[in-house]
Amino acid sequence: MSRGISVNLSDVRKQDLKHVWHPLMQHAGRREDDLLVIVSADGCEVTDAEGKTYLDAYGGIWNVNVGYGRAEIVEAVYEQMKTLAFYPIVQINAPAAQLAARLAELLPGDLDHFFFVNSGSEANETAIKVARQYGRAMYPGENRFKIISRYLGYHGFTMGAMSATGQVRRRAPFEPLAPGFIHVELPTRTAHGADAIARVIEREGPDTVAAVLAEPVVGGGGVHVPPDDYFPGLRDVCDRYGCLLIFDEVITGFGRTGKLFAAEHWDVVPDVMTLAKGVSSGYLPLGACAVTEKVWSAFLGGPDEGKEFSQVSTYGGHPACCAAALANLEILTRERLWKNAEAVGAHLLSRLKDLSSPLVKDVRGIGLMLAVELQNEDGSELDGERTQEFGSALRAAGVITGKMSHVTAGSEPVFTMAPPLILTHEQADRIASAFVTALRAIS
Ligand SMILES: Cc1ncc(COP(=O)(O)O)c(C=O)c1O
Repeated sequence: MSRGISVNLSDVRKQDLKHVWHPLMQHAGRREDDLLVIVSADGCEVTDAEGKTYLDAYGGIWNVNVGYGRAEIVEAVYEQMKTLAFYPIVQINAPAAQLAARLAELLPGDLDHFFFVNSGSEANETAIKVARQYGRAMYPGENRFKIISRYLGYHGFTMGAMSATGQVRRRAPFEPLAPGFIHVELPTRTAHGADAIARVIEREGPDTVAAVLAEPVVGGGGVHVPPDDYFPGLRDVCDRYGCLLIFDEVITGFGRTGKLFAAEHWDVVPDVMTLAKGVSSGYLPLGACAVTEKVWSAFLGGPDEGKEFSQVSTYGGHPACCAAALANLEILTRERLWKNAEAVGAHLLSRLKDLSSPLVKDVRGIGLMLAVELQNEDGSELDGERTQEFGSALRAAGVITGKMSHVTAGSEPVFTMAPPLILTHEQADRIASAFVTALRAIS
């Protein structure tokens, strides 16, 4: 793909500084050159307006699973837009129907029905509403509205999804959030497992609990992989109490963790699964809420029973976005990219675990979803200035990573990675080398 789009760098920087409100960023005291102006991308690399190329170890924002510059996705979108650029999903469009059928083949179990939206936040909003309506339909006389989710989990920026989010600093400025959301600790090997959630359901009253919502592997909260018995146990707990198990596979879906879906690691089929990010690898926005036959059947009834799902999205099921997703899934499955994520992810994890420095507190991850947590030499949290210096040094070494931000208090010195699933061993080595260089820079 062409790298040749020319921009007037100085104009773009001035326009941005004056008019663009960036996420999670303090604008007072901003410098004109504090962010990169990314103008092109190919494979795992992005190039800025000054011609410098970076290895994108963050895969956009945990989402560019098939890598940048895939002409066949661009062509599929172009062809679709030439014939039908848009029509709402209140009627049928072919790409949406084909995408739903393809997803039904790929998702585990009988997650066969899909409500299309435009983002992960909307997918989770939808799942929360589905769970509440399902609870009322299935348990007349009860009032199942509570959603149990976990501290450190992230589910989106909209009010419902943010209410389920367990990142205290993300939530604080907007409180009070929606009522009916309860947070529990993430599991460790010895505590806060599925039994702890059963106890919370008992205390709250099972007839008030609609669902448990969880990222199979927590992403933005710092990459936390659960013990192997956690989700099978949670599946049993949800069945015992009649509440839905919702997996937010917005990050973990579509190969990220070394399986097509993270649910496959534990042979667990959730009742509801939310999807976004890797479903279209960012070529166009798309999200979806998938439900099993059991959930679907609660929404079936006569014309006057009011069982239909009363929600509409102007752009949900957008034909061009669905065409992009179909072409993206064709690449993902043809190249079996979850296999590469498993192999190269294991290699990168072991290279990062080899980093021998008193500044490294922990290295963790699964597939191509990884994190390195830093500390001061004395074991205290790495201070803010050094954390910032470390991020700058990674970038100077030509590697872009994520960094935990606005989750907890403090400097949050956790550098996260979710590179495209086409990452090579050589590129994984470049990421590990950048960590060596950056550690040296702050030692
Ligand atoms: C696990 C998870 N769920 C939901 C979302 C929200 O997705 P979006 O930003 O597309 O609304 C994100 C975004 O990072 C996420 O990581």
